[in-house]
Amino acid sequence: YRTLRVALLGAGAVGSQVADLLLKHGDELADRAGAKLELAGIAVRNVDSKRDADLPRELFTTDAETLIVGSDIVIELMGGIEPARTQVLHAIASGADVVTANKALLATHGSEVFEAADQVGAEVYYEAAAAGAIPIIRPLRDSLAGDRVVRIMGIVNGTTNYILDRMDTEGADFADVLAQAQELGYAEADPTADVEGYDAAQKAAILASLAFHTTVPLDAVHREGITSVDATMIESARHAGYVIKLLAVCERLTAEDASESISVRVYPALVDRSHPLASVHGANNAVFVQAEAAGDLMFYGAGAGGVQTASAGARRRRVRRAAPHRRGSRRGRVDACEPPRRAHRTR
Ligand code: NDP
Ligand code: HSE
Repeated sequence: YRTLRVALLGAGAVGSQVADLLLKHGDELADRAGAKLELAGIAVRNVDSKRDADLPRELFTTDAETLIVGSDIVIELMGGIEPARTQVLHAIASGADVVTANKALLATHGSEVFEAADQVGAEVYYEAAAAGAIPIIRPLRDSLAGDRVVRIMGIVNGTTNYILDRMDTEGADFADVLAQAQELGYAEADPTADVEGYDAAQKAAILASLAFHTTVPLDAVHREGITSVDATMIESARHAGYVIKLLAVCERLTAEDASESISVRVYPALVDRSHPLASVHGANNAVFVQAEAAGDLMFYGAGAGGVQTASAGARRRRVRRAAPHRRGSRRGRVDACEPPRRAHRTR
């Protein structure tokens, strides 16, 4: 096998597991990849931080910029916009392919990253950037490319599902369960991103962009989190036969004059207890895709967690850009607490 030099940026919940995977299963990965993946180094903020895996100290550096130079593959698992954006662009400019799980970066600077990659013929893989371990990017980008997706509905944030599920099934306290989700490595570095729905909105923007062959900007996504959901609301929902879930709903809207627009919303919804989404427990995620030819498809699996996310295959990009969608006027309700659809024009 030829050897590919891998630079890992970040060794937190996900990065430490990716490093462990590369070091322990290098031979197996080489057989599958057709190349030996050599972990050249791991860039972090503090080389002495406690890690979830036992990793050789000599691999660690705080100098991401130098580590990137000469690398064939850069795996960005730092999270956040900066310095992740700068280092990803640096990696691309240096001739490396990039693997990233960073939905915050792709939902806000995806076009910049993909255009930079296009210019030099680099690849950007981001299967783990939406719905954790669930392989959803490739089906939307490749398998359904010849179909017409009309709707995506799902639970795309593991932390909030874990919190809502524990509140519902055990009467657990919001703050306690959030602390446990952080301890288990499910939550973002700043868990506000989870509980206020920012993380789900970023994933929804990425999924909608792929599914509808356009660019859905983050500010076009209606976003509500779960911080206003309390024990009384959960109890009332249960008595009425519902469970509260944070949903992401991405839809193609067609107006009476046949003009089209796209609606993308994240909000806590009342889900009937007989609905398959009501049975998504813990930090799991599930994504329903409705396509004109394929019909209804459902994807289910671990939505968060270091080991689970590390397993997410590196899949080829991209958040596509296509013809503009015109502003629509249709409104409707699918459940008792659904916010109005805000049809928006996309580039
Ligand atoms: P963590 O916060 O656990 O780890 C972040 C890592 O990046 C740490 O090792 C940290 O270094 C390093 N880092 C942060 N800032 C810098 C910097 N400025 N320079 C150098 N290194 C830096 O994050 P996660 O592992 O949970 O998440 C990583 C990415 O994966 C994020 O984009 C997240 O959204 C995404 N993701 C996470 C999932 C999960 O279940 N946790 C699931 C799917 C995607 P140090 O250790 O020294 O502090
Ligand atoms: N914080 C995210 C979640 C990690 O809980 O879903 C996976 O993207």
